[in-house]
Amino acid sequence: MQFDPASILSELGKAAEEKAHPFRWPVLSTADPAGQPEARIVVLRAFADPVATVYSDARTGKVTQLRSHPEAGLLFFDRERKVQVRAKGVASLHQQDAVAREHWDSLPPARHADYQTTEDPGTEWTEAGGRMDPAWRDRNFTVLRITLAFLDVLRLSREEHLRYQYRFSGGQWSRQRVVP
Ligand SMILES: Cc1cc2nc3c(=O)[nH]c(=O)nc-3n(C[C@H](O)[C@H](O)[C@H](O)COP(=O)(O)O)c2cc1C
Repeated sequence: MQFDPASILSELGKAAEEKAHPFRWPVLSTADPAGQPEARIVVLRAFADPVATVYSDARTGKVTQLRSHPEAGLLFFDRERKVQVRAKGVASLHQQDAVAREHWDSLPPARHADYQTTEDPGTEWTEAGGRMDPAWRDRNFTVLRITLAFLDVLRLSREEHLRYQYRFSGGQWSRQRVVP
C-alpha cells in the first residue's frame, strides 16, 4: 500500500511503538560549536505530537552539541515505501530530573548498562573503557525531547511523486503541498 503523507504524524506514533517500523531508527543531526554538521542513528523512543523522544548518554557528542545549539534534525526513511521525512525541531535535555527518572524506570534494567560505561563514549579504547559500572546508576542517562516544528515529507512513486511540508504553529500543524 502506498504511503499517504497525511498519515505522517500517526506513522511517527506507530514507529515509537513498533520495533520493526522503518521510522524507528532516524538519523539525528546536530551542529558542533564550529557549525560543522554531525549525524548519527538513534532510536525513536516516543512520539507525543509534536515531541519526539530519544535517549542518550550525557557525555556523547550529540548531547554536548545540543547543549550549545539545541536545534536538531531528524531524518526518517522508509525504503519499501520510498518515503523520506525531514524533521526539524528544538531539543530540551533531561538528566536526573523527573522526566529522566520516569524514562529510566521504564527501561528494562538490562538496558541501564548502555549508559554506565566507566569511560566517556568516544574516548580511546582501554580495557577499563569497556566496563560498565552499575554504581553510576542514571547519572549520565539523558532524555532528548525534540519539539518538532517542521516536517518535509516526500513520497516517490511511479504514478506520482508527492511532497508536503508541515509547520507547527499556534498549537497545530498546517500542511502545504509543494513541488517535489
Ligand atoms: C541501530 C542503532 C541505534 C542507535 N541508537 C542510539 C540511541 O538511541 N541513542 C544514542 O545516543 N546513540 C545511539 N546509537 C549510537 C549513535 O549512532 C552514535 O554512534 C553514538 O551515540 C555516538 O554519537 P555522538 O558521538 O555523535 O553523540 C545507535 C546506533 C545504532 C547503529
